[in-house]
Amino acid sequence: MIVLFVISMDGSFIARYDEDIIKDELGEYVMDIVLQATGIRKVFGTKSNLVPVLDNIDFNVQEGEIVGIMGPSGAGKTSLLNILATIDKPTSGSVRISGTEITSLSDEPLSEFRREKLGFIFQDYNLLDSLTIRENIMLPMTFSNKFDLTTDVRVTEIAGKLGIETILNRYPYETSGGQKQRTAAARAIIHNPRLVLADEPTGALDSKASMDLLSAFQLMNDEYGTTILMVTHDAFAASYCDRIVFMKDGKLFTELVKGDNDRKSFFDRLVTTLSSLGGGSYDII
Ligand SMILES: Nc1ncnc2c1ncn2[C@@H]1O[C@H](COP(=O)(O)OP(=O)(O)O)[C@@H](O)[C@H]1O
Ligand SMILES: [Mg+2]
Repeated sequence: MIVLFVISMDGSFIARYDEDIIKDELGEYVMDIVLQATGIRKVFGTKSNLVPVLDNIDFNVQEGEIVGIMGPSGAGKTSLLNILATIDKPTSGSVRISGTEITSLSDEPLSEFRREKLGFIFQDYNLLDSLTIRENIMLPMTFSNKFDLTTDVRVTEIAGKLGIETILNRYPYETSGGQKQRTAAARAIIHNPRLVLADEPTGALDSKASMDLLSAFQLMNDEYGTTILMVTHDAFAASYCDRIVFMKDGKLFTELVKGDNDRKSFFDRLVTTLSSLGGGSYDII
């Protein structure tokens, strides 16, 4: 429940708005919750063979957070991310992103919403081989008709920050895995999305390239206020997050918040939590 109190300069009480009024009257301006998922259930299969995969998940992401989802293989992480990413629909439950209920949108407004408000980073980069690195980064602008004279400047600026400015005219096959993934990160934020979703973004990277990508995430978060939700089974990647939620058997069951911890001590706490959970494979370095 979110409640907004409006207090005057001299400290006297003016008004109180509850969650629904905040959403209805003030829209996304005062909403600092980017993602609000409530009662998410997902059942795959048909009548004779129902596979329950997500069981009543409630989950929020605040603006400006980097949130990680961890859990053993088969826990339902990708299924959850796909629902939050508008790629799949839940069997029941509500997903609000930036105040819009996305589960009830039909195909066309949904793809528009996805193009405008979301950015994606996948484990296997998903770059187009026939386009240069610069053209790959520009793609979301082209798709959403936002392409203009400033786009090129923005591409160069973001590429500079992510350390890929020297490869902008190359094709993906002429770059390393780490450079490809930082290209994917640049592409994910070029159109200023409300939320970037990443599924195992360091999964195919060596440790140096992972560290560069995670530093890029941190920079995106610091400089552009990018909100990031990532699934990872790698405690090192997770230690770059502000908060980790743990999943098991389709449920969220605990959460660790970095708070004032530095990255190293958060990493140590994550490793301790993961080893106490057992029953799954995690990369702890
Ligand atoms: N399309 C599908 N049809 C049936 N079962 C599925 C489908 N997708 C995923 N599952 C099942 O859902 C469970 C969770 O899968 P997934 O979300 O990929 O887990 P994770 O990403 O945590 O490894 C697994 O048991 C998987 O076999
Ligand atoms: Mg997965």
